[in-house]
Amino acid sequence: MEPLVVVDHVNKHFGQLHVLKDVTTTVGRGEVVVVIGPSGSGKSTLCRAINRLETIDDGVISIDGTQLPDEGAALAKLRADVGMVFQSFNLFAHKTVLENVTLGQIKVRGRSKAEAEKRAMELLDRVGVGDQASKMPSQLSGGQQQRVAIARALAMDPKVMLLDEPTSALDPEMITEVLDVMVQLAKDGMTMVVVTHEMGFARKAADRVVFMAEGQIVEESTPEEFFTAPKSDRARDFLSKILTH
Ligand SMILES: Nc1ncnc2c1ncn2[C@@H]1O[C@H](COP(=O)(O)OP(=O)(O)OP(=O)(O)O)[C@@H](O)[C@H]1O
Ligand SMILES: [Mg+2]
Repeated sequence: MEPLVVVDHVNKHFGQLHVLKDVTTTVGRGEVVVVIGPSGSGKSTLCRAINRLETIDDGVISIDGTQLPDEGAALAKLRADVGMVFQSFNLFAHKTVLENVTLGQIKVRGRSKAEAEKRAMELLDRVGVGDQASKMPSQLSGGQQQRVAIARALAMDPKVMLLDEPTSALDPEMITEVLDVMVQLAKDGMTMVVVTHEMGFARKAADRVVFMAEGQIVEESTPEEFFTAPKSDRARDFLSKILTH
């Protein structure tokens, strides 16, 4: 498997708190990795470090063979290769849905407005919200907004998509519509790192589950192995808690 995201002996502190402890893992091109673990275990920090929204203390993170630069144009370029979707949609509130999906393409990818709009409409149709293009984000349901956020990230033609609890802020009836889009994306061969407790998604789409606890990767296995026969006590304990909900 060709490595696309390499995380090599990464450490990160917030003050005295050691939040990433010698984290090492590789995501192959086309691979779908689900990151799971208790609150505060460092899942979001790991995602943010991969996108360089957080600095790291030591270790190396590289995307497609290029080490994450510290700043400047090189960083902006590399960041554009990493699509990020957050729990809280983060759409530009004062721009239409269409503008949300065209802005980055024009500013960062240097596309013409016409070109960007064509691509945006393709993607909005693909995630099932093409008919919402002229609306403002606040006029959309949470599920629709999150699908726009996914389209916006895809519009940059990222090499990898990071999704940090993309369905956690959604009402139950909207979770499925977002998960369906994610499953399709996975089937289309997108490289994905997804922080989620949605085991249906993990079973359907993940190649690998990474279980984190207290800043460490405790276990990495197939979804089947992880959910039926977790190796560590910590994973067993965690699963027993989420399964009883
Ligand atoms: N900006 C920050 N400053 C200080 N501490 C932080 C900061 N961001 C996160 N932390 C701490 O780092 C640890 C890891 O946080 P992180 O958000 O990565 O966990 P998580 O696994 O994503 O948790 P959750 O499931 O609740 O989203 C936590 O103890 C958190 O309180
Ligand atoms: Mg988090």
